[in-house]
Amino acid sequence: MANEVFYSYLHNFTLDDVLSLLDNDNGEQKTQVENVLLDGEAVKYFINEFWTSGQRKASNLHEISYRACFKPQLPRFFIQSLTGEGDLVYDPFMGRGTTVLEAAILKRRVAGNDINPLSRVLVEPRLNIPLYQEIAERINRIPFNDQAGADRDLSMFYHPRTEGEIVSLRRYLEEKRRNREEDKVDSWIRMVATNRLTGHSPGFFSVYTLPPNQAVSPQRQIKINMKRNQQPEYRDVGKLILKKTKTLLKDITEEKRKEINACGEKALLLSEHAGFTREITAESVKLTVTSPPFLDVVQYSYDNWLRCWFNGIDERIIDKRITVTRNIRQWSGVMQDVFAELYRITVKGGWVAFEVGEVKGGRIKLEEYVVPLGKRARFHCFCVLINRQQFTKTSNIWGIGNNAKGTNTNRIVLFYKS
Ligand SMILES: C[S@@+](CC[C@H](N)C(=O)[O-])C[C@H]1O[C@@H](n2cnc3c(N)ncnc32)[C@H](O)[C@@H]1O
Repeated sequence: MANEVFYSYLHNFTLDDVLSLLDNDNGEQKTQVENVLLDGEAVKYFINEFWTSGQRKASNLHEISYRACFKPQLPRFFIQSLTGEGDLVYDPFMGRGTTVLEAAILKRRVAGNDINPLSRVLVEPRLNIPLYQEIAERINRIPFNDQAGADRDLSMFYHPRTEGEIVSLRRYLEEKRRNREEDKVDSWIRMVATNRLTGHSPGFFSVYTLPPNQAVSPQRQIKINMKRNQQPEYRDVGKLILKKTKTLLKDITEEKRKEINACGEKALLLSEHAGFTREITAESVKLTVTSPPFLDVVQYSYDNWLRCWFNGIDERIIDKRITVTRNIRQWSGVMQDVFAELYRITVKGGWVAFEVGEVKGGRIKLEEYVVPLGKRARFHCFCVLINRQQFTKTSNIWGIGNNAKGTNTNRIVLFYKS
């Protein structure tokens, strides 16, 4: 069956239709269905490769790297299945904005939130896309000064001339912001430059280093340089921004750009704790697709120091605000507030798809904790969906031992508000 066509009609269907959709094959293999006792109730597990490689490729507009982001096909599956054009789709932990952007591409209304202020830097410009020509003209007008020096030692990352260009771009953007003159073209340039600061190919401003969402410390970079016997070469900042811009906009036609921007004009983007988002109207959201911070201790300030420096954000604030929980009890406490808030803002007949991934190599099955949290907030647990790529018949749903390298599993609890 042409799944995508089927999904696009589904939002008008009944709960039984949703069940039969999930119980369907994906065109290649039959969905495995199991009943599992969770929180005193039998919960249906649907296991398959729900978004297959045969499906439409995701838009290049998503191609901004971010720690622990999910594939656009994940939110697309739920958005197409459970909402129609104009419905409000939300992500309380939006990160690089995968859900929000995919929803805008599919002509839904969007709302997003993330406590990390860098998230809005990365998301907002892609909901308010300038023309390539406007960006190219602006780049030409920016006073790049390849002699400018940074207020900290960045010589292990950048050639002196590249550093000068980054510093002058940073000053230019800072001044625009201070004078409240930063427009959508500047914000786009800010987003792309933030994404290009460090990386592992000549498409980035830096010498070879870790991927862009994991800036290393200067000391570590010095070691990498010694080990690889490398020195930063000159990179043309303006040229690289335009090159990445071209890639991001590759499949965005003028019509699509206008549609996305129309959606962006009405988008509500917040930088709050996901449990306290009073700006979102009660009973307004048709579907939430999200993936929360997990139990691991991610050092966000360490990961983000260079991105924060470029954007004039104090990285210690990120560390203070971001939820880092050390055990499942703490984690559940925070998520309980989030579920209460999601219940408040979800319409009757609305959905929450809560992706929990594999934690601690599959030893902790977070859905076992998530199901009671959602139910306590008065949601119904509709099912658990396991999307498993390279699905094999011998796999079992518990993810222990069978989550061999090369497989990519998403574990999603689907809740419904009656
Ligand atoms: C797993 S990532 C989400 C990635 C996202 N699905 C994507 O595709 O980019 C979790 C996000 O939660 C954010 N976060 C952590 N604690 C938060 C909180 N209390 N409220 C809101 N956002 C929070 C982090 O900044 C991070 O961006």
